[in-house]
Amino acid sequence: MSYRGLIMAGGTASRLGPVTQCVSKHLLPVFDKPMIYFPLSTLMLGGIREIMIVVNEIDLPAYEKLLGDGSHLGIKLIYALQSGANGIAEGVQLAQDFASKHGLVLALGDNVFFGNNLVSSISEGLQKNCGATIFLQKVADPSGYGVALFDEDGKLSSLIEKPKDLKMGQAITGLYIFDASVFEKSKELKPSSRGELEITDLLSFYLDESSLEAIELGRACFWFDAGTPQNLVEASYLIRQAQQRLNCQVGSVDLIAAESGWISERQLEKNLEKYTHSDYAKSVRDILFHG
Ligand code: DAU
Repeated sequence: MSYRGLIMAGGTASRLGPVTQCVSKHLLPVFDKPMIYFPLSTLMLGGIREIMIVVNEIDLPAYEKLLGDGSHLGIKLIYALQSGANGIAEGVQLAQDFASKHGLVLALGDNVFFGNNLVSSISEGLQKNCGATIFLQKVADPSGYGVALFDEDGKLSSLIEKPKDLKMGQAITGLYIFDASVFEKSKELKPSSRGELEITDLLSFYLDESSLEAIELGRACFWFDAGTPQNLVEASYLIRQAQQRLNCQVGSVDLIAAESGWISERQLEKNLEKYTHSDYAKSVRDILFHG
């Protein structure tokens, strides 16, 4: 099955107020790059080249300025407008015409992943997916996330969105793979008590059909939901450390496009010319041309 990508970059980002009063959360910096580069790079690392980005209307011009139609990255980007924070699963409904003949890989716009096993985990998910696939991580306190619980036999038994006072289970990260039945399933959703179409409810339809797979990302993979001030700072520090110590780039859509052979060196240089004296441009050039 072929897959198309969906990035959710709408919402209200109230946890980051007042910073997000006038700026979309997903355009805030995570160290040297806008946050949206990270979910975009996650999809690109999965080989996904046709991607819809869901944004608020007021933010659209900024996203178009930053990422355009994606041709400079050898990918195709289109934008869909969400009228309010009606829930992550509303994005699936918005993507129906764009992706109905395909499967869908959904990445949350504030989720940052990196690590050695990231690419292999995504590839495994794409290859084996027979319904929906989620990516789990053990965290000290999963209660602020969607949580996956397992029965005594180690079988996925239930999914709970932000369970109060529950210290067990694994956090469901913001990366999801769906087969094409997701569009019909999304029509069955009803708003939750907080008025949102919940991604956890959508996943539960697959769990009920026994067609939900879970891949544990393990400790070799770092995962951040950068949607709070603390996590945003921590993610920035971690990315800075990883990049400086390992002389690598995390979340560089330019580098991924070039290394994947989706753009020429000339196009890469053209991309970097816009901010030629930035540390980012220097780092990308250094990695690509001097290893
Ligand atoms: O980070 C992983 C968690 O993300 C999961 O474990 C949860 O199951 C999932 O519900 C979600 O929880 P959050 O509370 O972190 O979701 P948040 O409201 O921050 O939205 C996640 C991203 O999706 C964010 O970048 C904004 C975007 N979004 C959100 C909503 C509600 C939209 O584009 N539209 C929306 O209507």
